[in-house]
Amino acid sequence: MCGIVGYVGGRGAQKILVDGLQRLEYRGYDSAGIVTLGGGATLLREKGKVVELEKLVSEHETPDKIGIGHTRWATHGEPSQQNAHPHQAGDIYLVHNGIIENYKELKQELPDHEFTSDTDSEVLAALIDSFYDNETSLESAVTQALQLVEGTYGIAVLSTREDDKIVVARSGSPLIIGVGQDETIIASDASALVGHTTNAIYLNDGEIAVCKAGSVELTDLASHPLSAKVEKIEADMSAIQKQGYDHFLLKEIMEQPITLQSTLNGRVIKAEARAQLGGLNMSAEELQEIEHVVIIGCGTAYYAGMLASYYLEQLVDGLTVDVEIASEMRYRSFHLPKDTVALVVSQSGETADTLACLREVKARGVKTLGVINAVGSTIAREVDGGVYVHAGPEISVASTKAFTSQVAAMTIFAIQLAQAKGAGAQELGKYIDELAAMPDEIQKVLEAHKDQIRDVATKYAHYEHALFLGRDTLFPVALEGALKLKEISYIHAEGYAGGELKHGPLALVDDRFFEVMLLQENALLDKSLSNLAEMNARGGHVIAITNSDRQIDAEAVIHIDTKQELLVPIVLNVVQQLFAYYVAVARGNDVDQPRNLAKSVTVE
Ligand code: M6R
Repeated sequence: MCGIVGYVGGRGAQKILVDGLQRLEYRGYDSAGIVTLGGGATLLREKGKVVELEKLVSEHETPDKIGIGHTRWATHGEPSQQNAHPHQAGDIYLVHNGIIENYKELKQELPDHEFTSDTDSEVLAALIDSFYDNETSLESAVTQALQLVEGTYGIAVLSTREDDKIVVARSGSPLIIGVGQDETIIASDASALVGHTTNAIYLNDGEIAVCKAGSVELTDLASHPLSAKVEKIEADMSAIQKQGYDHFLLKEIMEQPITLQSTLNGRVIKAEARAQLGGLNMSAEELQEIEHVVIIGCGTAYYAGMLASYYLEQLVDGLTVDVEIASEMRYRSFHLPKDTVALVVSQSGETADTLACLREVKARGVKTLGVINAVGSTIAREVDGGVYVHAGPEISVASTKAFTSQVAAMTIFAIQLAQAKGAGAQELGKYIDELAAMPDEIQKVLEAHKDQIRDVATKYAHYEHALFLGRDTLFPVALEGALKLKEISYIHAEGYAGGELKHGPLALVDDRFFEVMLLQENALLDKSLSNLAEMNARGGHVIAITNSDRQIDAEAVIHIDTKQELLVPIVLNVVQQLFAYYVAVARGNDVDQPRNLAKSVTVE
């Protein structure tokens, strides 16, 4: 949440900062600001999106070569110009991601500072300033202040007195330092570095860096020097551009055949009827010993885990599987059986609850494997092993292509586990074939049904309530469908297991609701069709999404022609993604940056 960018070098800082903020805007978009130094400070802040800040900057252009910027997702204090970062205290300017939990106590110790915002971040700026006398360097003042702070932070700090350096520090909120030719670029997310440099230092918790045009010096909080590891970042500009689509969300839905192929490449070996993930850091013997899998995530990542848990149970004899919401599990007195492996699922790899849960699980001596999209992210760095799902940067706040790739990656893990436990090609072949065919199947569905899905979505866009129903593997898909719809259309939507309909939600069915019924050609189809009939009998407005060739009596039917059988839920989910997208478009919503949300949830 919130985006940070910083620049020091030979080029004009303002443009680089505003461009960077535009790329990071999906992390928070209620206000934005920059400050640059050049014989004085030019502080520009604006409520609203980065485009508003851009207008302000165009009226106050400077040739300054050093600066920091921020795009905000409000935690303390409403979205306003006063609460926007950077915050000033004396000669200090600061941008901050995270939450300073003891800010009220610290504020009481800072009577000399006249506070102008409601933020916890301004308290940190004032605290640093309180240590910043004429004898003290900026990095020393930052270090002293951080010793007193409780909470999480990723910060970048400037001083008008030392206008050749940016001091950055991290504890719990990501920061990356891009090392260019005679310039240094700081960002909370690698996408802001793309096009500037491919060399980056990922700051770890408890580290402070002094960044100058041609150098980066790293220390710990006790000022002991540390050596910096420069890593390569791989992303190209096209991955972070809309490429002709109206929205990132549509682009990310439509590119799933390609991104899913990247997930499968080298991992699903159809000719040999086998699948394997590199990077698990586990021998076949260790895999054999796994008796229990716990899958941990939040939001869409949690639902991806839920769907994958069905495949794990189907594929691996005797395996027990639990799926946990990270924000709940992290505070429970949970116990995990011996021979457990934890799959930690996250698109961003930065979700605060998932990260905290990972640490809790590790502290209990359990082996952890990441199922992560963002390369180099904190969770990816802290797990014992795991996979990158390789879906590419996901910019739209609503997660789509990551879900598909996460489920695929966990299904490959399930196959690998089954192989290690002795399952043969015959038992696994169908899953392997369907995984290998999935990119083409999704492509076919997107091409054949896009217009029909748009027409149905437009017809139902005026409703205010929706119920999504599915049984078995379609239950997590129903939950995910409801989440997608609610977050971008603002329609109140609930997902339910089909069998639960008569236990309560059937009472909701009336003319204010539409119902999405997910129907798969399998042994449970008749039961689901009975649920559909029960809703029809009560005046329901049912949209059926199905691969079944049976005659289906519903107000609207989206019939998908697909060869998939076991993995058909993944395909039906793609239909739901497009459906939610077109409903949101019909309602005139900001599809990529829905109100109140942010992409990467780095605070609790
Ligand atoms: O980055 P993560 O996968 O850890 O994010 C988890 C959730 O915050 C995320 O899936 C959220 O629910 C999405 N906005 C859903 O579309």
